Amino acid sequence: MAGTFSERYGPWALVAGAAEGLGAEFTRCVAKRGLNVLLADRDRAGAAERAREIAAASGVETAAVDVDLGADDAWERLYEAMAGREVGLLIYNAGLSHVGPFLEQPLEAKLEQLDVNCRGPLRLVHELAPGMAARGRGGIVLLSSMAGLSGHALVASYGATKAYNLVLAEALWEELRSFGVDVLAVCPGPTRTPGYESSGSRLPLAFVADPAAVAEEALDALGRGPVVVTGAGNRIVAQLLRRALPHSLAAAAMGRLMRTIYPRAG
Ligand SMILES: NC(=O)c1ccc[n+]([C@@H]2O[C@H](COP(=O)([O-])OP(=O)(O)OC[C@H]3O[C@@H](n4cnc5c(N)ncnc54)[C@H](OP(=O)(O)O)[C@@H]3O)[C@@H](O)[C@H]2O)c1
Repeated sequence: MAGTFSERYGPWALVAGAAEGLGAEFTRCVAKRGLNVLLADRDRAGAAERAREIAAASGVETAAVDVDLGADDAWERLYEAMAGREVGLLIYNAGLSHVGPFLEQPLEAKLEQLDVNCRGPLRLVHELAPGMAARGRGGIVLLSSMAGLSGHALVASYGATKAYNLVLAEALWEELRSFGVDVLAVCPGPTRTPGYESSGSRLPLAFVADPAAVAEEALDALGRGPVVVTGAGNRIVAQLLRRALPHSLAAAAMGRLMRTIYPRAG
């Protein structure tokens, strides 16, 4: 669809998981492109602070809503905050990741990860896609990961939630494009965010991406295809994982890499 970014995806963007890390960068990026932004995060003070900072820097309208996207009682409050704001762009960024052996991770943590990483985006896409389709325009960005491209030991359940987002976005890209709605799965590699920095990774910093660059690259890819793998090096690895290697070799290679990067977890 032709038009400027704000004509295609405005007037409001909803960024779910917006206070820090990639979500904060997505928020800055869409504001720079002229969209008003509703920031949803469980970090009430962080989201409000980010909303003020971005409104002052870009001149767009911002609002913050305090919700735990893994909780069943989050949705009414979020839908209330969305009422009266036409959301033309959904960026579902919130994601929980726990690094460690599957056998040692508690069931509760795995289920919470499913709630935030899978049920959350499913609910919001279900809520927002019909309006976008009826208006004949809109965008949906779901956060996958390199770990969603093949099995990654030590983040087995997390990787599976990211595969869910990848496959959901690919299918919706095809289903919704005839309605003028662009859907995109974003697969970042390791990216310097508070979540990543607290994971205990030993990966050299040269291989860790800048979150602002990841957000820009992702938004530039919206409307150009169903999936973007950010970063040239990651795209080479993605080709190997998705196309060249048998599944067993891909999973073994990623397992070895994960145990090297996270020696204490493995
Ligand atoms: N960073 C990477 O290396 C990397 C690589 C590949 C994919 N990704 C994906 O990119 C996305 C963002 O990652 P990130 O590293 O920027 O994460 P992050 O640094 O942990 O920030 C995520 C933001 O979402 C919020 N959030 C988390 N759970 C929430 C919940 N239940 N309800 C409301 N807000 C919640 C966090 O708040 P709190 O601070 O309160 O938790 C935080 O503000 C995730 O989906 C992740 O899977 C990241």
